[in-house]
Amino acid sequence: MSRRAWAYVAGGAGQGRTMRHNREAFERWRIVPRMLHGVRHRELGTEVLGTALSAPLLLAPVGAAGLVRPDSDLLIARGASAAGTAYVFSNQGCQPMEDTAAAMNGTPFWYQLYWSTDEPLVDSLIQRAEAAGAAALVVTVDTTLLGWRPQDLDLGSLPFARGEGIAQYTSDPRFTILATERAHRTSAEENGITVGAISTLLAMSRRHPGRLLDNLRSALPRAAVQTFLDIYSNPSLSWEHLASLKERTVLPVLVKGILHPDDARRAIDVGIDGIVVSNHGGRQVDNAIAALDALVTVREAVGPDPVVLFDSGIRTGADLFVALALGADACLLGRPHLYGLALAGADGVRQVIENMVAELDLIMGLTGVAAIAGIGRDHVQAAPVGAHH
Ligand code: FNR
Repeated sequence: MSRRAWAYVAGGAGQGRTMRHNREAFERWRIVPRMLHGVRHRELGTEVLGTALSAPLLLAPVGAAGLVRPDSDLLIARGASAAGTAYVFSNQGCQPMEDTAAAMNGTPFWYQLYWSTDEPLVDSLIQRAEAAGAAALVVTVDTTLLGWRPQDLDLGSLPFARGEGIAQYTSDPRFTILATERAHRTSAEENGITVGAISTLLAMSRRHPGRLLDNLRSALPRAAVQTFLDIYSNPSLSWEHLASLKERTVLPVLVKGILHPDDARRAIDVGIDGIVVSNHGGRQVDNAIAALDALVTVREAVGPDPVVLFDSGIRTGADLFVALALGADACLLGRPHLYGLALAGADGVRQVIENMVAELDLIMGLTGVAAIAGIGRDHVQAAPVGAHH
């Protein structure tokens, strides 16, 4: 990866403590294998909110993956589809969701929404996701502001400001109206011309739909980025917004980024269909609690029935097993699939998934579990106090 891509993908908030906590939490739970159980065949398939999954693993939404490879979202979709794995498309995707949907080739996908300050844009994105065939909507609520990310700051890098990761917007009819209005308002403005400004303009124009030469002559690519920066997320997002979703979509809705048991209960109370326990892979608040610790309290709070998914820190099939044992119905995989993408494109994505699922399958065989629903609290134990990793 380029330095900029690596900073964005591998980086986290502040001193990286939340990322570290995510991993450390997995060291504090240990698997308890059982013997002589006669389990020969394992069934890894499961169902979450009406979506059939070949294994309890989905690809997490990742924005601006185009930093890693051109056509990123299409390649990820092809890799996911080859592995038969569902993919949650990011609102900050690098290809229009309709194109990525086609690349899924029938494998289920969900759509992740960032709630814009422009409500008609919210509706437009939801309608497009429904029309494209998304099977659920995932509203990410932990990124109403972008976290403090020193790795990016050190490089002066904000992908979105160069038009990276705004393809859902530039392909959207409502957004195009807003950006066009802005282009008309600002095209007469004087702008200071520097080498940096030209390089940014070139980057924006390259990513904007249409021909580069036309884009360079037009005020629209720059107006699109500026419009995006104005409206992309809504810091005043509240429970009332979420409650309004019931009338705005026919899809099941999950809320991603929950860490406190009260927030989990409240989400269920306002009619949300599922919760994704996540600290955004440690990219938002430094020194936050480990997502795995939150999974335990959230599952306790909501009881056995509501759908609870988990991400942040999963790196192996053994990690998957532990998260499932602690109450997750399925898990999302973030950075590792981008590493596969960087190394070998769609095939790399497929291999990352298949390796992880293969280890989960083996561990199920070695712990005597025949089906995903059979992975329970009895299969893990807290590490003895004071035990070294
Ligand atoms: C993310 N994540 C994320 N989440 C989301 O809801 N929308 C998004 O656009 C993005 N973008 C994004 C980009 C990159 C480069 C990363 C690494 C992550 C968070 C992601 O969905 C997931 O919560 C974490 O990545 C899970 O943690 P791990 O598996 O990376 O440890």
